Amino acid sequence: MRNLAFIPLLALAAAVQAAPDAKAGKALHDKQCVACHVKMFGGDGSKIYTRSPRLINDPAALRQRVAACSAQTGAKWFPEEEENVAAYLAQQFYKFK
Ligand code: HEC
Repeated sequence: MRNLAFIPLLALAAAVQAAPDAKAGKALHDKQCVACHVKMFGGDGSKIYTRSPRLINDPAALRQRVAACSAQTGAKWFPEEEENVAAYLAQQFYKFK
């Protein structure tokens, strides 16, 4: 009976593993995406995400935009990498409610 206590823990471990990796997303983003945004907005380029009005206002639109941009830049990211970048942008800038 005591072993049952581990079941929620295992479920949690699985969920954590499947979650997007925002840190990996930042590395990809900084390498492939920032330079062009900096040219337009100066600074670190992040104003493109925080300007008002901004284009993207929900997580689905953000994922689509990341996928479209990565295709455009020829970055050839895997879907998981796009997820990671979207997660980074959502966490750091968009903070969707
Ligand atoms: C060749 C230049 C260029 C590159 C490279 C680029 N972008 Fe962009 N990005 C733009 C432009 C231009 C806009 C603004 C479009 C507009 O205002 O209509 C934009 C807008 C965006 C937005 C929406 C901002 C908002 O208003 O909410 C996101 C998100 C975004 N880019 C993500 C990325 C990601 C992720 C990458 C890397 C895969 C990337 N971009 C690479 C030029 C670029």
